[in-house]
Amino acid sequence: MSDKFPNNFIWGAATSAYQIEGAATGNNRLPSVWDTFCTIPNRVVNGDTGEVACDHYHRYETDVKLMVELGIKDYRFSIAWPRIIPGGRGTVNEAGVDFYQRLVDCLLEQGITPHATLFHWDSPQALEDLYGSWQSRQIAQDYADYVTAVVSRLGDRITHWMTLNEISCFTHKGYGVDETPVHAPGTQVNSKKAVWQTSHHALLAHGLGCQAIRAASPGSCKVSLVDNFCVTVPLSESPENIAATQKAFHTCGSNGGIIFPALTGAYSPALLELLGEDAPDIQAGDLEIIHQPLDYLGLNIYKGAYVRATDNEQGYEILDWPKGYPKMHMPWLNIVPESIYWGIRHVSDTLGHKDLPILITENGCAAQDEINAQGEVIDSDRILYLRQYLKSAHRALSEGYPLTGYFLWSLMDNFEWSWGYDRRFGIIYVDYQTQQRLPKASFHWYRECIRQNRVV
Ligand code: BGC
Repeated sequence: MSDKFPNNFIWGAATSAYQIEGAATGNNRLPSVWDTFCTIPNRVVNGDTGEVACDHYHRYETDVKLMVELGIKDYRFSIAWPRIIPGGRGTVNEAGVDFYQRLVDCLLEQGITPHATLFHWDSPQALEDLYGSWQSRQIAQDYADYVTAVVSRLGDRITHWMTLNEISCFTHKGYGVDETPVHAPGTQVNSKKAVWQTSHHALLAHGLGCQAIRAASPGSCKVSLVDNFCVTVPLSESPENIAATQKAFHTCGSNGGIIFPALTGAYSPALLELLGEDAPDIQAGDLEIIHQPLDYLGLNIYKGAYVRATDNEQGYEILDWPKGYPKMHMPWLNIVPESIYWGIRHVSDTLGHKDLPILITENGCAAQDEINAQGEVIDSDRILYLRQYLKSAHRALSEGYPLTGYFLWSLMDNFEWSWGYDRRFGIIYVDYQTQQRLPKASFHWYRECIRQNRVV
């Protein structure tokens, strides 16, 4: 196989509602848990909030023009629940729907296919006040009703739907037992079981959400989940290390309790054994609801965990990071380009879904971007990172794995959650004072990859 990507390969870019939209109080939108979280002292760097963000709500036409300049034909964004149903349940806010209709029409006019994530962490605060959001089983049904409201109104324009973004982040990092959770709502609960219960409820929401999309969509559509499982990567590709990597995959992070039930219909037995009485309560029928057929799987991949075979009881070791291991501008962002290739292989080999199409729904990095004297941002470090990861994606393709596309995170700098505006992930620089957009060197590099349909 040449270094070309397949002709129909999807080259895209991604964003999410709370991170870019701003207009937090406009047109009947009510607060999400992130609006509230941002007001608590010391939770977000510099006390930043998503109130204005990139003001994309008012500037979406400019941003779509930049997408055209970039040459992408696919764009992944998210829809804000607190805009569509500000109270979390009940009345639909048609002004909120209207914004997404205008955005999607603008994309379609430019020949850009919209890929909509129905939930990217901005739970309505009203549901937090009512029943503690993901702590309650009720949220799964309220989410499904919200999905029905969206898909019945936007399903004539949008046919690619993603239910939830990264379940582990808004549950296991939004609720905690000992340490203060870094993500909204930042609630302390009294047991690990209670934390696992929140992700179980999110899985139920995903399952009911898939059913709701298919029931409400006026035509055929594609449905997926976006997950960021922990990618175990063999330190070297010996048969022993590869087998150890597959074994370690079950209990690494929250894999066994999120991607396993979603794709196989069962929690991993290895995880359940490890959890003991911390395992969530699973009611009869839950796993059937959770285990919906998917048209493809979305994978957000940034990093991996190196594993090797050892002769200890479990047969593997997840390795520590040496001091000085190269990383991008986040404490967790170790550079592991093979994680794309191995992430895809785990879906095929470890989870047994050989033919399930995969989309890399996020990959990217933060860098210490600065505008130089010539008025440019030369982020060659970001290019270095992206190039290696894309080559790893190409390896998966050349070995016949069903990778169908890649969305770069992110189209533009944005509100990086508890890091506020202190960390930049975009290939377009945003000056938050003036709201000027400035394509970085990585933007021009990515445009060339798209144009040549290969990694340049
Ligand atoms: C999230 C994004 C976030 C990115 C970088 C992903 O986990 O989906 O919202 O900005 O990582 O931290």
